Amino acid sequence: MEALKIKFSRQYNLIMFIALSMTNIVRPCLSSPFTSFVFGDSLVDAGNNDYIFTLSKADMPPYGIDFKPSGGQPTGRFTNGRTISDIVGQTLGAKSFPPPYLAPNTRDEAVHRGINYASGASGILDETGILFIGRVPLREQVNYFEQTRSYMVNVMGENRTKDLLKKAIFSVTIGSNDILNYVQPSIPFFGHDKVPPTMFQDFMVSNLTIQLKRIYELGARKFIVVGVGPLGCIPFIRALNLLPTGKCSVEVNDLIQGYNKKLNEVLDQFNKELGPDAIFVYANSYDIFIKIIGNYPQYGFENANEPCCGGYFPPFICFNGKGGGDKAASALCNDRSKYVFWDAYHPTEAANIIIAKELVDGDESFAFPINIRQLYNHNS
Ligand SMILES: *[C@@H]1O[C@H](CO)[C@@H](O)[C@H](O)[C@H]1NC(C)=O
Ligand SMILES: *[C@@H]1O[C@H](CO)[C@@H](O)[C@H](O)[C@H]1NC(C)=O
Repeated sequence: MEALKIKFSRQYNLIMFIALSMTNIVRPCLSSPFTSFVFGDSLVDAGNNDYIFTLSKADMPPYGIDFKPSGGQPTGRFTNGRTISDIVGQTLGAKSFPPPYLAPNTRDEAVHRGINYASGASGILDETGILFIGRVPLREQVNYFEQTRSYMVNVMGENRTKDLLKKAIFSVTIGSNDILNYVQPSIPFFGHDKVPPTMFQDFMVSNLTIQLKRIYELGARKFIVVGVGPLGCIPFIRALNLLPTGKCSVEVNDLIQGYNKKLNEVLDQFNKELGPDAIFVYANSYDIFIKIIGNYPQYGFENANEPCCGGYFPPFICFNGKGGGDKAASALCNDRSKYVFWDAYHPTEAANIIIAKELVDGDESFAFPINIRQLYNHNS
């Protein structure tokens, strides 16, 4: 017995010795862990809306049906599987996803993998999403990040916090709901008369600029700012405008392209003024998405027109009846990997995988001035 113990402890020591020397050898080669802070709307919400009173929730099946870490249970993500930011993180080596800020006990996570502040129905403008009642507008998301930062300074000190934030990836995926609110005829423009489209684009860009500057001043240096996708092609807008298969709303897409162009110019300016210490990558989800719907069979899709879940006509509700069964089956397409759209608003995980791949490793036409992998590896 005693001999065995000694032998065991010797072996244990040997293993420990090897393990320790290996960490010493390996450490210099390891790049820093992937830490990301995620701001945005339902395209990247990872569960924040589960913790507020809102009509914008993805807390019921079949949302999350293909999300492996939860065993197919809903997580508050507005798709069947992973979001674009989930996939980008995994591609760059993240072992887990940044937790939602509003979930209990997530503060300490910031130090390791970052935090997700995104909220479904939210927009750049504070009023956006008011019909959904609860949502966290971008300004408030940045307020939350301010609190995270204070907490980090308390536990790690100012210098280590600065160092971590300098290396972390900050992504901002927002603007879709501002556009949707603006173009929906049933919603008066927040009780005011509708401003002209160019003025509305300017409101979005200037309000977003303010929040990007705040995040920068709090220490962020690596930014991904995602443009608004072609919402004129999503089932919700196409159904409202009674558009035939393969047609998109030109009016809506023109509004978005005008906004994206102005956003691009602002980011260009930021790169000139604040670079090379800070980098703002423009993620051109618009062109990637147009390419996918224009060539969907080449990407392995069979349907780029209807949502997999919830049907093509208002009210576009995607959830299982309590009992499941027939109702559940009829609400869902047969093969989720063959659909571009998960519900009337959001892409499937299959589409998200393609978008993420182009953003991480694609050329300048999809991520400008550098792609996300280059941004991640960049050391200033
Ligand atoms: C933090 O960094 C500053 C400037 O590099 C340095 O002067 C200071 O000693 C550092 N503080 C600590 C606690 O390391
Ligand atoms: C932000 O947007 C609002 C409309 O929601 C607008 O009245 C305001 O002027 C904008 N702020 C800036 C700095 O452009």
